[in-house]
Amino acid sequence: YLISSQEMLKKAQRENYAVPAFNIHNLETIQVVIDTAKQMQSPVILAATPSTYRYAGTEYLINICKTAAQTKHFPFALHLDHHEDIKDIQAKIEAGIRSIMIDASHHPFEENINIVRKMVEFSHKFNASVEAELGRLGGQEDDLIVDNKDSAFTDPSAAKEYVERTGIDSLAVAIGSAHGMYKGEPKLDFERLAKIRDKVDIPLVLHGASGIPDAMVKKSISLGICKVNVATELKIAFSDALKQDFKINPDANDPRHYMQPAKLAMAKIIEDKIRICGSAGKL
Ligand code: 13P
Ligand code: ZN
Ligand code: NA
Repeated sequence: YLISSQEMLKKAQRENYAVPAFNIHNLETIQVVIDTAKQMQSPVILAATPSTYRYAGTEYLINICKTAAQTKHFPFALHLDHHEDIKDIQAKIEAGIRSIMIDASHHPFEENINIVRKMVEFSHKFNASVEAELGRLGGQEDDLIVDNKDSAFTDPSAAKEYVERTGIDSLAVAIGSAHGMYKGEPKLDFERLAKIRDKVDIPLVLHGASGIPDAMVKKSISLGICKVNVATELKIAFSDALKQDFKINPDANDPRHYMQPAKLAMAKIIEDKIRICGSAGKL
């Protein structure tokens, strides 16, 4: 019941929209992402970093998502976001995951290719889709912290070779976006994105979409981005609403009540991102 991202992203590529990928952290995020996406009939990817699987427990997370997909009659992908450990990825695929990102972007080019190609061979036996990154995003995503001086943009010609030699299904590009929020306005290198699109025919992925103005996300979709990753904006909406609610009701002690405003706040962000991605009604 957990599907791969392959068909979703191919359809998005053909029809010029993007599938939103939301990072989930707990039961409430899972519920709100699924309910909102289902309401809007949008394809969706639920992404979780290694630390989220550790926090929730891999079996818990997989089974909650399988149950959700079945009882809601809503197919979606539960995705491995920024996973690096090959054994860990293999175990999670064997446990039922069908959509992975192997992040070997911190390795030199040849090593990156070798690691990813092996992962592709393994994953495709299970019909699991594989995303990988060439170049490197700055910023922080859970345990993954990349200093700006260590970030690097994706080279279009290298991207072509990388895709051909690894056999990946989608490519995460580094064109100026970063994990977390931005201090000033982010600058995306659209020219570079267009060149990559020219040379590479698989779906392209935009990481670090939190904090990027709507118009820029839309433009990147028009230039070939088929998956848009959002984590930080959901975290902020959730915790801000929670803090606000406790301020108004300092004696609140029932999570089923005090989580409600936080869930509503996340739903608004999700709705917004689905609209920006153009994925509503594309299920
Ligand atoms: P943000 O931190 O900008 O939401 O990026 C999310 C992301 O890229 C997850 O992989
Ligand atoms: Zn990311
Ligand atoms: Na960001």
